[in-house]
Amino acid sequence: MDQKEIPRNLRDDNLSEETKTLISQLQCEIDTQGNKLYNYQECWYYSATLQGILNFQRNFKPQDSDIIIASFPKSGATWLKALTVSLFERSKHYPSSYVDHPLLSNNPHALVQSLEANLYLNSQTPDLTTNLSSPRMFSTHMPFLSLQETIKDSPCKIVYLCRDVKDALVSRWFFRCSYLGKEVDRHVLESMFESFCSGVSFYGPFWDHVLSYWRGGLEEPSRVLFMRYEEMKEDPCGQLKRLAEFLGCPFTKEEEESGSVDKILELCSLRSLSDLEINKTGKTSNGVDYKFFFRKGEVGDYNNYFTPEMESKIDTIVQEKLEGSGLKF
Ligand code: A3P
Repeated sequence: MDQKEIPRNLRDDNLSEETKTLISQLQCEIDTQGNKLYNYQECWYYSATLQGILNFQRNFKPQDSDIIIASFPKSGATWLKALTVSLFERSKHYPSSYVDHPLLSNNPHALVQSLEANLYLNSQTPDLTTNLSSPRMFSTHMPFLSLQETIKDSPCKIVYLCRDVKDALVSRWFFRCSYLGKEVDRHVLESMFESFCSGVSFYGPFWDHVLSYWRGGLEEPSRVLFMRYEEMKEDPCGQLKRLAEFLGCPFTKEEEESGSVDKILELCSLRSLSDLEINKTGKTSNGVDYKFFFRKGEVGDYNNYFTPEMESKIDTIVQEKLEGSGLKF
């Protein structure tokens, strides 16, 4: 495929000589689309993303108040970013109106940018100022180990969002077909499924990813919050309050009584966000339409696409890999 047709963070036309040398020494596999994946610090990346990670690891200087939203791709980061932004914006916008709320004119991914897929993708020294006041917020799909090395001496906070891998896979399938402008083809799902099961997929293996943050959260509960998409769907109010407490900005009794929690949840709902003009027509800096980040937002959508054999195979693998960790799906 022509390099220009694929998102910037998946292209390999802008690698430094240093990265080329490094990747020549890494284990390499070809993914289902024919792209090369490289294993770096036990995670699989396309070369451009790897360049972004190296730039980040060498140059990022955390600030104590930084917030990093981490997730395995397609776990609902768009939602978590919107909620986190809204928590810190609420004093400015409540009880008055939301007229100039940043989410009305920006997609959550523009307000909370990816460290490796945007900011450090092609730069050693990106501009890290955002159009939000404070704190700085970033996102990543890196596993905890690759992130931790760079920020270990800082008290900055990490919020990890995890989701049932079957739903994350179905979501990735639709997302990939959308941004490539391809038909939603079942063969693509089946080959992506095999890659997920083998662990050789972009940012995979899933189980190592999720376990890295699970353990990080157990070791440093004041620094790493482990959240689940399914729990957010089931009890959005309780989970938003949990997030606010972790980030040091709990809701006051007055705020709760005056409906501040519900107002944030409404603004950040899939329906409200996807109805905004910016999210209907805008694109990420990597050229992906914002509208592709909003699909169904359901728990268990995989049931519509997985055969019972697929379900049982992936469940067995994940269960085995997580055994003894205390983490269950
Ligand atoms: P589906 O494809 O299953 O619908 P990410 O944000 O990490 O890229 O993940 C995308 C998934 O989150 C998509 O899942 C998308 O529909 C869902 N999502 C996006 N915004 C959401 C929101 N405001 N509330 C709930 N789910 C949301």
